[in-house]
Amino acid sequence: MARILITSALPYINGVKHLGNLAGSMLPADVYARFNRAMGHEVLFICATDEHGTPAELAAIEAGQTAAQYCDEQHEIQKRVGAGFNLSFDWFGRSSREPNRKLTQHFADVLEDKGLIDERTSKQVYSVDDKRFLPDRYVEGTCPNCGYEKARGDQCDNCGTLLDPIQLINPYSSVSGSRNVEIRDTRHLYLLQSKLQDKVRKFVDDRAANWPNLTTSIAYKWLDEGLIDRSITRDLQWGVPVTRNGAPRPGFENKVFYVWFDAPVEYIGSTVEWAEANNQNWERWWRTDKGADDLTYVQFMGKDNVAFHTVSFPVTILGSEEPWKLVDKLKAFNWLNWYGGKFSTSQKRGVFMDQALELLPGDYWRWYLTANAPESSDTAFTWEAFKACINSDLNDVLGNFVNRITKYTAAKFDGKVPDGGEPGEHEAWMANELATRLPQLIAHYEAMEFRKAATETRAIWAAGNEYITKSAPWTAYKTSVDQAAVGIRTGLNLVALFGVIAQPIVPETAKKILDAIGVPDDRRSLNPEKLGQGGYAALLDVLPRSKPIEVPPQLFTKIEDTQVAEWTARFGGG
Ligand code: 2FM
Ligand code: ZN
Repeated sequence: MARILITSALPYINGVKHLGNLAGSMLPADVYARFNRAMGHEVLFICATDEHGTPAELAAIEAGQTAAQYCDEQHEIQKRVGAGFNLSFDWFGRSSREPNRKLTQHFADVLEDKGLIDERTSKQVYSVDDKRFLPDRYVEGTCPNCGYEKARGDQCDNCGTLLDPIQLINPYSSVSGSRNVEIRDTRHLYLLQSKLQDKVRKFVDDRAANWPNLTTSIAYKWLDEGLIDRSITRDLQWGVPVTRNGAPRPGFENKVFYVWFDAPVEYIGSTVEWAEANNQNWERWWRTDKGADDLTYVQFMGKDNVAFHTVSFPVTILGSEEPWKLVDKLKAFNWLNWYGGKFSTSQKRGVFMDQALELLPGDYWRWYLTANAPESSDTAFTWEAFKACINSDLNDVLGNFVNRITKYTAAKFDGKVPDGGEPGEHEAWMANELATRLPQLIAHYEAMEFRKAATETRAIWAAGNEYITKSAPWTAYKTSVDQAAVGIRTGLNLVALFGVIAQPIVPETAKKILDAIGVPDDRRSLNPEKLGQGGYAALLDVLPRSKPIEVPPQLFTKIEDTQVAEWTARFGGG
């Protein structure tokens, strides 16, 4: 049994996330957590809301609330929506809680002690009308790189370039719209990333073999450009207060740490929250001197977060020279697009997680977004592809199989696993399919190739359909009840197996299937040592003979053209 720490990039607090955010971090992290639990590993799956910074303050202003009120409310909403998708976080924390505050201030102290933090004067956009500095998203203007006119101070949404607000052309305040702005001097703390260049490169070199291309290419791009010292404080009210050895830092009373300095620290903070709430030991998961050296730490995120996790956060950890656990595997995703364009939280384009759940249960979305995960390139969501995928994979291939076999058992075999008859060539063919496909399925999950895992899952379900066409128990029943019994018994064992392999991606459906067949918890393992005990042929005959089974409730309903038309009208597309 291995120990695996899994974190998903922390969703910003500024509103319910869209399907692109779900597909690019929280969902695959959950699928991976569920896979590893089903393998029998000890998993700790951590997430949280990322609550600081300008996105939070600006969203609160727009909602007419204080930042604290806004975050309280939005955290509960995001937690509820996550539960609606069956995201099985062991803990869904908040970066605004005490553990993160203390840890963030601790890291700043230690980094300063090591000579890695400097106080410097820098130039910043100041709004004369708003009487305040305009950090990050508080200022908007034209992108110096691509000319996009609504680029935010910290990043251009159009071309992705990270920006310093003073680089914007024609800047204006995003709070008041005022263009009466000027550049003024302000004092900030700078993290001397340049001093850590070699250590970070070694850290990346040591792991590059385990990282997908997307991850390593971004990490090396940043390293090759050379790490630059960056300011880790902001002129804001809402955030982690800037302290020095526990006391407010003189001159920094109206400043807080930059959100990207405290956010990744919340991976640890959220684990502390979990430990405090559950009387557990968090150090075992994070301190290599306290047992965390024997675990694998896996991070999930969209490609825009990679630099922060391969370079910036490691600077914090390595710079501290303390024995913190560093990431081992990092799975990054490209974009899920909405038809031709981008999903956008600020522009409310696309389907958001709460809206998706109003349309269909979580499993429908989980399946589609995993089977079409933006792994090797950006992919586009379209209603047409969604409908085709759900109707084929979930309805025709999985749902119909489970339905036909269990209903026939109820009608012709008294609702019990049939006894009698001997396996023959068709069962041998099916066992052979499993012998090839199940190890491939496990290998895809272990390699975190989620599209391939979904494709292989579907292929196993499809092989079951092919098997039942070959063995045709309904025809056989007319001449030999025993022969039909073999087909239905094998079919029921396949239903159970299909439920087992469905668990990571469509957990609610899997549970319905496994409960109906009465598969006990200790037989829901995906671990080949347990699953294939006695060989793959034995897998087709594990259910006790004469055991009563139930017909599960209807698993899926087909998506109709009328629904596609309705949703297209409501959400746009095409
Ligand atoms: O890009 C984002 O959505 C950020 N909120 C991700 C933060 S991940 C972590 F470092 F906190
Ligand atoms: Zn741009």
